[in-house]
Amino acid sequence: MKLKSLFICQACGYSAPKWMGRCPDCNGWNTLAEETVTASPHTRISDSEIIPLMLDEIEYEKGERFLTGIGEFDRVLGGGVVPGSVVLIGGDPGIGKSTLLLQVAERITSGSRNVLYISGEESPSQIKIRSGRLNVSAKPIYILSETSIDDILEHLQKTMYGALIVDSIQTMFTSGISSAPGSVSQVRETASILMKYAKKNSIPVFIVGHVTKDGTIAGPRVLEHIVDTVLYFEGDRGHPYRILRSVKNRFGSTHEIGVFEMREGGLEEVVNPSSLFLSERTAGSAGSVVVTSLEGSRPILTEIQALVSSSPFGIPKRGAIGVDYNRLLLLVGVLDKRVGIHIQGQDIFVNVVGGLELSEPAIDLSIIAALTSSFREIPIDSSTVVFGEVGLAGEVRGVTSAEVRVKEAAKLGFKRCIIPERNANQISVNTVEVIGVSTVKNAIDIMFH
Ligand code: TYD
Ligand code: MG
Repeated sequence: MKLKSLFICQACGYSAPKWMGRCPDCNGWNTLAEETVTASPHTRISDSEIIPLMLDEIEYEKGERFLTGIGEFDRVLGGGVVPGSVVLIGGDPGIGKSTLLLQVAERITSGSRNVLYISGEESPSQIKIRSGRLNVSAKPIYILSETSIDDILEHLQKTMYGALIVDSIQTMFTSGISSAPGSVSQVRETASILMKYAKKNSIPVFIVGHVTKDGTIAGPRVLEHIVDTVLYFEGDRGHPYRILRSVKNRFGSTHEIGVFEMREGGLEEVVNPSSLFLSERTAGSAGSVVVTSLEGSRPILTEIQALVSSSPFGIPKRGAIGVDYNRLLLLVGVLDKRVGIHIQGQDIFVNVVGGLELSEPAIDLSIIAALTSSFREIPIDSSTVVFGEVGLAGEVRGVTSAEVRVKEAAKLGFKRCIIPERNANQISVNTVEVIGVSTVKNAIDIMFH
């Protein structure tokens, strides 16, 4: 085997024979680092013959999923843990990944599986201190402070566990590759070793991955392609709320979210996030409106706030927290041109309360409502929920799962829903008044009569 040196982009995994200042693939500056790789000649590695199966012959392994008992976690996974699956949990340092996984470990062990928690970042006594805080008792959780994946595998040959936790992939290394732990080749290789182990032995493996500043899992997006499920643990360190979001899942739907609260004694599930996100709402203030957005299969009611104020400077300012900035500009344009509400010259800020990120277009109409309410200084009736997609012609377009959204509003005691006309006749909830609107103008006339 020959050693050769390659320059590999630490952000996206692109490799080049010589150094470049800018990665031609992801356009990142100064992301290429030199790594030595063994250039192995292309030979057959396995002697066994491959035999394709006929689709009809394949026996369907009925998902022997098991539940961890942490409902929010199980839902995000698509209904429990699939043995043999590899789950990557990404997030900023300090957000609570180790805490979450230690709590998951505890729950798994109470279901009579033993768990091996491999930490490359903390010593056993540090983990012990954390477990004391979390009140994790002496269940069969085994702690291993180790970073060599080869040594870990050797141990795993001798002892079987019901689940593995690897905290974090950036600290693991295999001696087969000479570059440093955390580099693209190491991360890729150690992850595929774990993947092979998981598949071969039908053992679930949870991998922690740190996230870089720009939001991608450090060491690379290649990691996201290898694993079965990618979950992001998000939240603002200033807020106690944490959201676990699935962005890829081979065993369930994506965009599913779980909501937790970080307390003194660890993470607590938030079973009813809608009432949480609305708990600090001041009813009757201008610029605030409630929307039901859909996160995966789950409707969540949140408050959207807007502030429209006259701009002291020549160039008006715009700010968007929790909603897409370009979408906001588009909606301001629609208000100006199609409805004749001229806010273009004003400073405009929009904020989603509680640190949620709303990405679906169904929130368009509520952004428009909040903007208009703030601009006119007229509060929107606090028992009203608004949702609908807005088109460039000023029309209100239908959204998915309107019924689910209206039901959630009804459950939390809202009295009126202003929704797209197209959806209005499909609703069979009779505890709320449902008003269908076909244009933005139409909706504004109803809200601010
Ligand atoms: P941690 O799980 O170490 O984060 P990560 O593994 O993602 O880097 O969580 C660290 C933060 O969580 C730390 O700032 C303290 C806080 N925390 C609590 O508030 N309560 C607790 O019970 C625990 C264990 C941690
Ligand atoms: Mg940690």
